[in-house]
Amino acid sequence: MIDFKKKIAEEISKTVNIEKEEIETYIEKPIDNKNGDYAFPCFRLAKELKKAPPIIANEIKEKIELDTSIIEDVQVVGGYLNFYINKETITKEVLKEISKTEKYGKTNIGNGKNIVVDYSSPNIAKPFHIGHLRSTVIGGALYNIYKYLGYNVTGVNHLGDYGTQFGKMIEAYKMWGSEYDLSEDAINKMVDMYVRINNLCKEDEAVLERCRENFKLLEEGDKYCTELWEHFKELSLKEFDKIYDILGVKFDSLNGEAFYSDKTDEVVEMLKEKGKLTESEGAEIVDLADEGIETPCIIKKANGSTIYATRDLAAILYRARTYDFDKCLYVVAYEQNLHFKQIFAVAKYLVDEKYYKGLIHVSYGMVQLPTGKMSTRLGNVVKIEDLITETIEKAKEIITTKNPELENKDEVAKKVGIAAIIFNTL
Ligand code: ARG
Repeated sequence: MIDFKKKIAEEISKTVNIEKEEIETYIEKPIDNKNGDYAFPCFRLAKELKKAPPIIANEIKEKIELDTSIIEDVQVVGGYLNFYINKETITKEVLKEISKTEKYGKTNIGNGKNIVVDYSSPNIAKPFHIGHLRSTVIGGALYNIYKYLGYNVTGVNHLGDYGTQFGKMIEAYKMWGSEYDLSEDAINKMVDMYVRINNLCKEDEAVLERCRENFKLLEEGDKYCTELWEHFKELSLKEFDKIYDILGVKFDSLNGEAFYSDKTDEVVEMLKEKGKLTESEGAEIVDLADEGIETPCIIKKANGSTIYATRDLAAILYRARTYDFDKCLYVVAYEQNLHFKQIFAVAKYLVDEKYYKGLIHVSYGMVQLPTGKMSTRLGNVVKIEDLITETIEKAKEIITTKNPELENKDEVAKKVGIAAIIFNTL
């Protein structure tokens, strides 16, 4: 591997008549790589050279002779010289190192430390869309990186498998189940059923009442409802697994929201005991104004049911106890920034400092389509399977025009297409 730092020090040294060894000790790595890959602060030389740092920086820049195949560019910012290394060269160098050893960059800084990565986390009976793809790819990469650094990593797919909508799904299945062959394209058909039952609920209060009843039965562990719910879950996972296989991601736990449904009582109790629970319009909330968060965190709705946040709080408690995590990462779009701010603040009343300080929301930008924001409800979603198929087809098209003689075009197109999706996301 080229020693970039040494090369920079050598070249600087020639311009100022100071030993390159000394120069090298001054070279820093900027925190933000906008300021270069290496930076040389000229403050250290100001006394010796009796000049202001920005003047020194400019003089060095004038005199320095750089091999652009190694150092692409140098910029003066105040008293600093910022050096940018040649991207193509570093890429080649890294690839060379990787081919020599499988352990390139590997360390054991994570030994004895536990990391939980909560990622992907789609909702069952709903399509896996581009938003979930981002979480899957970013979370999968974090998972691999932490593992590589010796951490003990637990990948959790916090499935959205709980909520009143399953009462509706059960009713829809009871009414029209025989019309749908769920052995193929199950998710689309479930979405269709869901849209249908929702429309009917709007017209007919009696149907809505039956849906509520189903959900109650499901919560109480009724056999028929539970089996049906499990069936929906299985069908969804079968389709999700196809995508996970293609992307090469794996999970250590599939404990989703439903897993925590019987673990929320403890959360409510603990908050009550600490005097943190207050009533507001019939709902039970935790006021977070003192934390600088204007919107309180709802723990129980006016009808007594818990919400997404309550289950996430139960999950924090469970993960602290089960995994004894040093960090728990949530790879979820920025749309949920407020949700995580709220639950992290409430977590202070539930777990020790070690745990609540280790909670991190890995927020990323949402995907906007030319047609606006994605919404399952409005039918404005791009299905990830379609995206993958299209990308692979595009790759094949390019191969066919640019490299028509290539053998195993399909195999290459598949690899290139999938890599394009992964690395574009990253
Ligand atoms: N199911 C949620 C969604 O699709 C994401 C869940 C993220 N994880 C969590 N622990 N809240 O929006």
